[in-house]
Amino acid sequence: MEIVGFMTEKDFIPSKSIELIEKGKVAYKSPSNIALVKYWGKKEGQIPANPSISFTLSACATTTKISFKKLDSPTQQYSFDFFFEGNPKPSFRPKIETFFKRIEAYIPYLKGYHFIMETSNSFPHSSGIASSASGMSALALCLMEIERMHIPEMDPDFFVKKASFLARLGSGSACRSIEGPLVVWGGQEEIPDSTDLYGIRYNFEVHPVFKNFHDTILLVDKGQKQVSSTVGHDLVKGHPFSEQRFKQAHRNLSLLKPILRTGNLKEFIKVVESEALTLHAIMMTGDPYFVLMKPNTLEIIHRIWAFREASGSHVCFTLDAGANVHVLYPENEKEQVHQFIVNELVAYCENQQYICDRIGLGAIRLKV
Ligand code: DP6
Repeated sequence: MEIVGFMTEKDFIPSKSIELIEKGKVAYKSPSNIALVKYWGKKEGQIPANPSISFTLSACATTTKISFKKLDSPTQQYSFDFFFEGNPKPSFRPKIETFFKRIEAYIPYLKGYHFIMETSNSFPHSSGIASSASGMSALALCLMEIERMHIPEMDPDFFVKKASFLARLGSGSACRSIEGPLVVWGGQEEIPDSTDLYGIRYNFEVHPVFKNFHDTILLVDKGQKQVSSTVGHDLVKGHPFSEQRFKQAHRNLSLLKPILRTGNLKEFIKVVESEALTLHAIMMTGDPYFVLMKPNTLEIIHRIWAFREASGSHVCFTLDAGANVHVLYPENEKEQVHQFIVNELVAYCENQQYICDRIGLGAIRLKV
């Protein structure tokens, strides 16, 4: 069933030309997010093959500042300098150029300005943590802020939707990093207004147990991602299990609705851990096939299961497309679980490193 969201692509194309202001500065801090139902597989134009839902995080974030200055005459190429943690980062330029190409139809001023972009992450550079969600959402928000400087009467709801729409064109999961605490991306029949075009805040009742939920990220492998998202998403095309997988994601999202309302953590754990393992199962059974877990990933998973069994705790795990483990647990178990992490799990992290994060409310605008 085709589900049509509230806005269409055309609604994001500016209807009238704008008079460019001379110069200005904008800045945003945007968080990462962790999917409970995973986005894995996409169609042309950054359209997800199935809907996903994520907790917005708070500690893992990217801060991006853009200064812009009107060019004497519009350029053919995009004119920008890019700095990462204070240094020029040429390897990032192609990513920005691809992003700009994808969003040019929606942003009227891209070739009229020279941009100086300065960006930094709150998490260590080589942590194996994907920065595309926080990075692309921060960038999209800065670009929207520049648009709003030209159109001050812009509707705040439109601002958020278009920021998510642009972020999606940078990196799919980035469209879930604009708002919080829970965001749905991708049309799903039981979630009105859900759309493939941008993320929306999950607007149903959520049990207080999910407030302040914790996500401690265990850095099992801090190296470069073994398989890029592009390769991973590609592998889902023509995968023998893909159609079933897409149906399962719809089903899991439906299952999560009553779980989130009633705070049924036992059922929450089943959906979340199954989603993580399914993502990895798809990678293991693809052509080509990949094993993204490391021995320590499995060791951690088994220890979480044993601890849960022995203590009655509601700690669980999820994984992204890599070896690191996200350990999820409610606020009222934080001391007990933190102790368990320190005593039993940290030994399996590279250099014993881990990041304490928790559910967050989305990106914030910074004063410049
Ligand atoms: C495994 O958002 O990195 O984290 O759209 O190609 O940039 P692109 O992919 P990306 O995919 C990440 C998927 C995931 C699961 C998820 O966040 O839903």
